[in-house]
Amino acid sequence: MGCTIIGCGKKLPKLDVANDELSKLVDTSDEWISTRTGIRSRRVCVNETNVDLAECAARQALGWEEDGWAARRIAPEKIDLVIFSTVTPDALLPTGAAAIRRRLGLVNAAALDMNAACTGFIYGLTIAESMMAAAAPGAPGAAGRNPIRHALVIGSERLSRIIDWNDRNTCVLFGDGAGAAVVEWDETKPGILSWFIRNDDDVDNALTCMNAFDTPQPFTEAGIDPAALELPDPSFASIHDEYEQTERIAAGAPHQVLHMHGQKVFKFATKAMPDAVEEVLRRAGLGIDDVKLIVPHQANERIIRYAAKRMKLPLERFQMSIAHRGNSSSACIPMTLCDAYEEGRIQPGDNVVLVGFGGGFTSGAVLFQA
Ligand code: ACO
Repeated sequence: MGCTIIGCGKKLPKLDVANDELSKLVDTSDEWISTRTGIRSRRVCVNETNVDLAECAARQALGWEEDGWAARRIAPEKIDLVIFSTVTPDALLPTGAAAIRRRLGLVNAAALDMNAACTGFIYGLTIAESMMAAAAPGAPGAAGRNPIRHALVIGSERLSRIIDWNDRNTCVLFGDGAGAAVVEWDETKPGILSWFIRNDDDVDNALTCMNAFDTPQPFTEAGIDPAALELPDPSFASIHDEYEQTERIAAGAPHQVLHMHGQKVFKFATKAMPDAVEEVLRRAGLGIDDVKLIVPHQANERIIRYAAKRMKLPLERFQMSIAHRGNSSSACIPMTLCDAYEEGRIQPGDNVVLVGFGGGFTSGAVLFQA
């Protein structure tokens, strides 16, 4: 209790790619994409970087811009922590969080990147809330920790970099974007009431993306026999085999692209989302009727419809944004939350649930009072 959302922002790249444009690249159609997924168009970066998008979203969440929603302006030196969730960092070093800290002059902030796939923003909020609570006055051991009163939590993605634009199974689903929220520790407000995070093994490797670290090391070429080292089978190679990636790469496909078994993810998602909502409500001692709005991860409109049906809720109780954005992984939830604030769908005192799922498999939810 006490970790309250006081600002939200979002940024999309300029280029808008409609379904018909994709049917020029792969054997697909607007009809197939929109009926199976609810997606009509998505935004794709041209020269915007992940950090460019994140910076714009963060400035709005801090109340520095007209756009977005912010209870008030927060000065840069007030931010104690930056959490930057992404599966598509511009660089490994400096981290996205470090780049944002520097660009925005957040001189007092500790800053870290994290990756919990599409559930990243949910995980980011739980980390921020936990660190704030652990350092709050009166918490056991608080004196030994960084006091964290304001945190900036970002979900930002340039997924277009890891999409195989020749693979119709995936390229129609994803888009780029960034969302951000500023949270404040305020003992007088309930703020985050409960949260729940979970991992299930992705036993079938339903969602994978190899990294592109392929700098050769010189030692085996210098006469060392790998067999003599009794090395285990490289685990990544088995994933490659499973997806016939070896053949794909040999045929000229890029290495670092996302692969997905859509139906396996679909099955996981339609159970994980209602389960996570149920768990945060149980932990807070509330029922579904106490919730004003659910802000779900936007992977497929059909997934949200299924989940709504399982929860016996009308779709109107869910904030939707997939039609003109597609799935932008960890950016979906904060961007969609920003929409809800901008549209006035969240008023002080309302209970709101954020819920997501993603590769790994990760899933989780956050219940907060606005
Ligand atoms: N256009 C036309 N046909 C297509 C396309 C396309 N873009 N993509 C696949 N097809 C074809 C398939 O090849 C298949 O053809 P076949 O029957 O001749 O073999 C047929 O359509 C049906 O394919 P399915 O995979 O069974 O289609 P499904 O109804 O399951 O829909 C979809 C696929 C939309 C991917 C769905 O499974 C889904 O949304 N899954 C979850 C995806 C998801 O949530 N991903 C993200 C999770 S985590 C994250 O956000 C990173």
